[in-house]
Amino acid sequence: MTDAPRQRGRFITLEGPEGSGKSTAARHLVAWLRGQGVRAVLTQEPGGTPLGDEVRRIVLHMRGMSDDLEPRADALLYAAGRAQHVARVIRPALERGDWVVCARYADSSLAYQGAGYGNDPEEMRRLQEFATNGLWPDLTLLIDVPVEIGLERTRRRTEWNRFEDTEEIAFFETVRAAYLRLATAEPERFALVDGSVSVEEADAAITRAVAGRFFD
Ligand code: TYD
Repeated sequence: MTDAPRQRGRFITLEGPEGSGKSTAARHLVAWLRGQGVRAVLTQEPGGTPLGDEVRRIVLHMRGMSDDLEPRADALLYAAGRAQHVARVIRPALERGDWVVCARYADSSLAYQGAGYGNDPEEMRRLQEFATNGLWPDLTLLIDVPVEIGLERTRRRTEWNRFEDTEEIAFFETVRAAYLRLATAEPERFALVDGSVSVEEADAAITRAVAGRFFD
């Protein structure tokens, strides 16, 4: 008797501008999936591996460096972290049949390093293809929130990051608009979620989207 081949897991990412509630939503989604009997791994970018954690420190939390990165260097740093994360964590999990829920992924680089920092959009897309070896999510939940509301939420955080001193509202408006364009261009991959509502309401919208995509 041979074992039936194990089905590849699903790959779900959460995206959105600052303070849209992605990390909380990702945690709640994983708990909900586990409640449905699904084995689910929770991860995030930048991060997810020791290299990813170092990248996170360099690109976000080092005064004098994080806020002085050349756009191409910035894009390559995120891409390096992503390549390691995909090869060591995400792909192996999917191949063993686990689902992966990741807060931020390649679309963040398209929105921030591409639209936000002016790297060429096509080159940014090719860089993501290279870094991920062609792994795109099965579903991307774009949690959209007006820039002012999102920034107000992030002001409550304590750890310094590069955006605090440098970026203008206009930058985040550009990022938000880029996300909305990405979602419009790929409606079969994206689900749009209103992030300005309560956590419970956003969670409910997310589980509806996931159930509609994978369980109905
Ligand atoms: P994070 O602490 O994860 O905050 P948030 O709650 O907003 O997700 O910060 C991640 C920051 O890194 C965020 O400002 C966006 C930025 N980022 C990029 O610019 N490009 C990327 O590819 C990724 C993954 C993140």
